[in-house]
Amino acid sequence: MRIGIIGGSGFYNIEGYDILDRRHIVKTPWGEPSADYIIAGRDGHEFVFLARHGKNHDIPPHRIPYRANMWGFRLLEVDRIFAVSAVGAINPGLSVGDIVIPDQLLDCTRTRGQITYYEGKFTPNGEFEHPGRGKDRVYYALREKKVVHVDVTNPFDPQGREVAYEVLSGAGLKVVPKGTYAAMEGPRLETAAEIRALKILGADLVGMTAVPEAFLARELEICYTLITIVTNMAAGISATKLTTDEVLQVSSSRKQRIIDLIAEIAKRLPDDLPPECGEALKGAIM
Ligand code: HPA
Repeated sequence: MRIGIIGGSGFYNIEGYDILDRRHIVKTPWGEPSADYIIAGRDGHEFVFLARHGKNHDIPPHRIPYRANMWGFRLLEVDRIFAVSAVGAINPGLSVGDIVIPDQLLDCTRTRGQITYYEGKFTPNGEFEHPGRGKDRVYYALREKKVVHVDVTNPFDPQGREVAYEVLSGAGLKVVPKGTYAAMEGPRLETAAEIRALKILGADLVGMTAVPEAFLARELEICYTLITIVTNMAAGISATKLTTDEVLQVSSSRKQRIIDLIAEIAKRLPDDLPPECGEALKGAIM
C-alpha cells in the first residue's frame, strides 16, 4: 500500500525521505497534475508526494487541477492520502500554530460541487483500464459512463484521523482531534461578515482546497485524511490584516515535523481500509 501526501501552502517537497522516483504524469482525461509526483521511501513504506499548488506555488486554489491530481494518485496505486493544508481559525478556542484534524466539511464554494469524475454520458473517453489492483469499481463506472452518488456523511478517513491524532499528539504537538472545515472558493480571503456567517453555520476552520479534493478522493475509493495547520485567526477575528507572509511562515515552521510524523502514522495504519472510503462506490452507482 502506498500512502499519498499532498503538500499545501509552504510545503513543496518531501525532505527526510529517500527519493526513489519522480513521475511526470502529462496525460489524464482531466489535464495535467499540479506537479511531478515524488515517490519516496522511509522505514520500509512507500509514499507519493504532490505539491498541490505546484512546486513554485504558481497555481491558485480555484485553478488547481483537482481531478488530474487525484487521478495521478490512483494511477500510482495510492489508497490513502494525508493532505496538509493551511487554514484560518474561526473557533476562538483555537490558536495560531495549532493542528486540527477535521471530521466535517462544509462546501461553501459556488462551483466546485460540480467537479466530479462521474459525469454520466458526458464522462470523457479515456483509457480506464485498471492498472492491476483488486478494486475496479472506479474503472467500471468511468468506462460505462455511470452516474455515481457517493456517500460523504463522514468525508474523511476515520482510521487515518485516529492514527494521525495519536501520533501527532503523542509527539507533543497541540492537536485538536476534530472540527468542521468550511471550504471557500478563494483566491481572496473572506470578509468579516462571511466569517461570522460561517461561524453560525458551525464552521471551526476556513480554507480553500478541501473541496473538491476530499470528495474526489472518496469518488476514487481513496481514504483521505486532512491535517490542517492554523496559520491565522480568520478575518474579523484577527485584530490585524491577514497576510500571506504569516500563512507561509507558520505553515513552513510546522511542515517538517508533520512530514516526519506521517512516516510514523504509516507504521501504525491497519492494512485494511475502512469500507466507507475504501469501498465507497458500493451502492453508489446508478
Ligand atoms: N481563509 C481561507 N483560507 C486560508 C486562510 C483563511 O483565513 N488561512 C489559510 N488559508
